[in-house]
Amino acid sequence: MENKKTTARGFRAMKNEGRVIVAISTYDAPTAGFAEAIGVDMILVGDSLGMAILGYDSTIPVTLDQSLHHCGAVRRGAPNTFVVGDMPFMTYQTSPGDAMRNAARYLQEEMLDAVKVEGGLEMEQTISRMVGAGIPVLGHVGLLPQQVLTAGGYRKAGKTKDEAERVLADAKAVENAGAFAVVLEGMPSELAARITAELSIPTIGIGAGPDCDGQIQVSSDILGLLSFTPKHAKRYADLDKAIVDAFSRYALEARTKRFPE
Ligand code: KIV
Repeated sequence: MENKKTTARGFRAMKNEGRVIVAISTYDAPTAGFAEAIGVDMILVGDSLGMAILGYDSTIPVTLDQSLHHCGAVRRGAPNTFVVGDMPFMTYQTSPGDAMRNAARYLQEEMLDAVKVEGGLEMEQTISRMVGAGIPVLGHVGLLPQQVLTAGGYRKAGKTKDEAERVLADAKAVENAGAFAVVLEGMPSELAARITAELSIPTIGIGAGPDCDGQIQVSSDILGLLSFTPKHAKRYADLDKAIVDAFSRYALEARTKRFPE
């Protein structure tokens, strides 16, 4: 498959031409290399790193240094793909200055193409300052995993009329601030379709139905690496079983001296 790196502006062209944006969250060089080989349009080094790789039960404990460490690995594994660093909890919410200083590390130290931040209206000024300073920003509205502690769990967003208007306003704020695209997470399909129709920037959905301009999935979910598969994900493989099987056969052969030969 042809592998031409998309640009932040290129995603808008994809929306206008009706080409579906395919994005995936990965955290290491080999997996990023596989994603690049099949020609994904965007890799996100998601803060889902916390659950997918680091063994936490939420994204909250993920630190800036942990995120940057995995961003470097992904960049090396997928040098020709548009890679976005997902800024962890409290690395951008504290002030626009903190957001810009920390975002710069993704672009300057790990050579990433953009950063992602969660939040709508409350983040409008910060995103606008970041974009004004030359930092491409991917927004994220709807269900916000970094707000799990105040929300008391992972609740679908926009279920009532008022909540839906708020999510739409959030998405518009992210667009006004200059983000090149926005992730729509965990909301009714009809709301995601309406936001997609009303925004000129592309929407990339997860748990938001089929009518977004693109889709994003977490690699460990679609590979079947974890015991729990979220409702919005589809297992395209059962790597958990494949790994247990390979480890078991190796252990057996080592114990019975059939390996090494
Ligand atoms: O952390 C992540 O992987 C994400 C995507 C699911 C959008 O935020």
